[in-house]
Order: sequence, then structure tokens, then C-alpha cells
Amino acid sequence: MAILTVKQLAKIYEGRVAHKALDNINFSIEKGEFVGIMGPSGSGKTTLLNLISTIDQPSSGEVLINEQNPHQLNRKQTALFRRRELGFVFQHFNLLDTLTVEENIVLPLTLDGKRVNEMERKLQKVAQKLGIDSILKKRTYEISGGQMQRTAIARAIIHQPSLILADEPTGNLDSKSAKDVMETISTINREDGATALMVTHDAVAASYCHRVIFIKDGQLYNEIYRGDNRQAFFQKIIDMLALLGGNSHDLSTVRL
Ligand SMILES: Nc1ncnc2c1ncn2[C@@H]1O[C@H](COP(=O)(O)OP(=O)(O)OP(=O)(O)O)[C@@H](O)[C@H]1O
Ligand SMILES: [Mg+2]
Repeated sequence: MAILTVKQLAKIYEGRVAHKALDNINFSIEKGEFVGIMGPSGSGKTTLLNLISTIDQPSSGEVLINEQNPHQLNRKQTALFRRRELGFVFQHFNLLDTLTVEENIVLPLTLDGKRVNEMERKLQKVAQKLGIDSILKKRTYEISGGQMQRTAIARAIIHQPSLILADEPTGNLDSKSAKDVMETISTINREDGATALMVTHDAVAASYCHRVIFIKDGQLYNEIYRGDNRQAFFQKIIDMLALLGGNSHDLSTVRL
């Protein structure tokens, strides 16, 4: 069953000079799949994620999540849809630093008016899974980058969303923390059957996916499947990125 289907999706940013950021994008993601999106800087990856996550409206084409088109919902329904069906993980973690780790994690449930004991039960389960049980009472400025990202992942999955969307989740992490985070996402995907779509510049992170879709200049360029050898897949990703052109510095983007 497809959790996500994208049909003939296009996005034109209107402005003094109109810019076609995405053109005729078609693909779907099956339940339980873990899919990566790669492509040079400016190729349209974040735009694609924003259309899927309903942060932005497509110029044409369709997004279906669990057979529902979220772009046809009204404002209130959209907010609810996002909160229930989607889980977000960002490069900059987007945690609230006035809240503790556990308050951040249960935020989506709080907003949904869930009962306290149900929240507590889900919190314990997810915290254990992510290995952050011991830092639940800390504030976000008291924990490491890797712990922040695991907290953000806990928040993204606590309500068991249909689809987890991640935009460069390892972009701000050192390689050890990045590896931990990718192993965490892989475990959640494998054990809980969570479906995930992740944009990344990092070939190591991408090698954890079942499949990587490459985009270039707003169009689908290619896709490759992992099979059972992650090391070989990593090499294929590197080769594809080289073929894509882009810039080699995109492999490990340094953002200042
Ligand atoms: N709000 C906007 N208005 C106008 N143009 C935009 C807007 N957002 C993005 N663009 C343009 O659309 C294209 C795709 O941008 P997008 O952010 O999707 O790229 P990306 O693949 O995520 O790049 P990066 O790897 O650098 O994050 C770029 O040319 C960008 O300049
Ligand atoms: Mg981007």
C-alpha cells in the first residue's frame, strides 16, 4: 500500500522572475519504506518536502498521503492532518528551549488533548527506544546535539504518524552523532514499520535508506535501491552524485 503518492507535481515560485523549482515529479512510497532524496543545492529538495508536508501549496499536481489530498483540506483540518499523520525532523531540531526534553516530546499529544497517563506511557516507550530516558527532565540547552536530534525524533514519532519527514536530520551533527541518529531512524523504521522520507546531502546517511531518489534542476533524475549491502550502496550513491554534477562540496555541506 502506498503511504505517499506524488503525481505530476510542479512548483513555480512567482516573483519578479518566476522560477520553476519542481516539474512533473511522480513517485510513491510504500508503507514501511525508508526513502532518501538527494540532489545538488537548489535542485528542489526542500521545496518537495514542503509540498508534501503541506507547508507550501503546489502550482499543479497532487500529493496523496494515505489516500487523502491534504491540500484540499481547510486550515483547521490541515493543522490536524499534519499533527496526526506527519512527523517532522529538521536540521535545526526546532525544539523549544523553554521546555524540558519530555515536554518537547509530548507536545504533539498535548496539542491533541491526550490524557496524561496515555502520554506518560507513550513517552516512556519512545524515550527508551531512543536511549534518552535519563535526560527527560533536562532543558534542551543542557543536552548535546545528538541528544537534541534524538529528542526531536522522539517528538516526531510519539503519535505514530503515517509518514516521517526529515530535512537534513544529520546536517548539524558530527559523524558519530549522525551515525547514532541514522541507526535510530533505521531501527524505528525496521521495528515499528514507520515510513520515512529524508532529504540529505550526506551519502553515509542516505546509505541507510532502502532507496534513494535523485533530483536535478527540479526534475527526477534517477533512483537506486540498496539491496543488502550498505557499503556497496554507499559507493553507488557517491557515483551517482558525481554523475549528477552538482558540486563535490554538496557531499558534506558546510553551512555557516
Ligand atoms: N520561497 C522561494 N521563493 C522563490 N524561490 C525559491 C523559494 N524557495 C526556494 N526557491 C528556489 O527554488 C529552487 C529550489 O530550492 P530548494 O530550497 O527546494 O532547494 P534544495 O534542493 O533544498 O537546496 P539545498 O540543498 O541548498 O537545501 C532554488 O533555485 C531556490 O532558489
Ligand atoms: Mg534544502
